[in-house]
Amino acid sequence: MKVIGTGSALPSLTVSNDDLATFLDTSDAWISTRTGIKTRHLLSNETLYDLAVEAANKAISASGLTPDQIDFLLVSNVANEHITPGLSCIIQKRIGVTCPGLDINVACAGFVNALMLADDMMKAGRAKYVLIVCAEEPSKYCNWQERDTSILFGDGAGAVVLGPGNAFKNVHLTMISDRDVLYYERHMEKTPFEQKQVEGQPLMMKGKDLFRTAVSESAKDVQKVLEEEKVSASDVDYYLLHQANKRIIEGIRSILGQPEEKFPTNIEKYGNTSSASIPILLDEMLAENKIKKGDKIVMSAFGAGFVSAACLWEWE
Ligand code: COA
Repeated sequence: MKVIGTGSALPSLTVSNDDLATFLDTSDAWISTRTGIKTRHLLSNETLYDLAVEAANKAISASGLTPDQIDFLLVSNVANEHITPGLSCIIQKRIGVTCPGLDINVACAGFVNALMLADDMMKAGRAKYVLIVCAEEPSKYCNWQERDTSILFGDGAGAVVLGPGNAFKNVHLTMISDRDVLYYERHMEKTPFEQKQVEGQPLMMKGKDLFRTAVSESAKDVQKVLEEEKVSASDVDYYLLHQANKRIIEGIRSILGQPEEKFPTNIEKYGNTSSASIPILLDEMLAENKIKKGDKIVMSAFGAGFVSAACLWEWE
């Protein structure tokens, strides 16, 4: 499997830390020092579906394929206005693909998990070309009266088209059941029978616990995948890590003992766009010709669950 096209899309509205400080008890200094975030793009007059379609269309167009050549559509999303049907069904018609698809929710690690599924489908002969779309609107499940979580996130979508090749080398997935570290409970309808009613509540987070687990588990995932492929950390050209917090990236970097220039970031501009963060970063790096044939690339992400994942590519 190799990447043959990428695309990304961000909402038109840019919101700075100073903008947030007009209604939250926070400051640009606090947010940028603690997270590295300066601005984020938030949905205002467009929908998540628009972003997903734009990113997907760009990726298909970059791949040189026509939409009807796509054999499978994998969509990663944590939550959107529709509980059913899935986001893959909603966007299928607008991007002109005719193939089946499915939605996955592995929180911010959705992209790396989707890569594993795509690779397995290709190896099984089930698909030649797979389109992955990661589309996320975390701004819609934060509590905007609370400064703890709302400052962290941004909305966005990233997409990749995958085709035959030998670039994808290995993947390692981790799941540790720990709901309380990060969760969003949705409202469910009242039944005449149930005793306990869940009303739903916005995103809840134990920031410090999540920070620590993210650094240690992500570093372990990366080390595992490198070990299995007999590749040393210094052989890797770029580490494309989930853009959740610059200090988390720094923590993983210091465990791996690698120089800063191998860890590109765009969290300054976009905040944490959940599973869309790595495909958006990849799209930007390819557009800037930063990735060359033969480069060894690690991707690694973590999120609510607790889940984490890492994979290794040798770019083709
Ligand atoms: N602005 C100003 N002050 C804030 C604030 C904000 N937005 N949010 C919290 N604070 C305050 C706290 O109330 C606390 O005040 P106190 O010392 O008077 O109690 C103080 O700042 C320190 O908070 P603390 O929680 O210790 O900060 P931290 O250094 O742990 O940073 C996070 C907080 C959320 C940035 C950090 O824990 C983190 O990034 N965790 C991981 C989050 C994440 O990545 N989530 C998504 C995963 S996919």
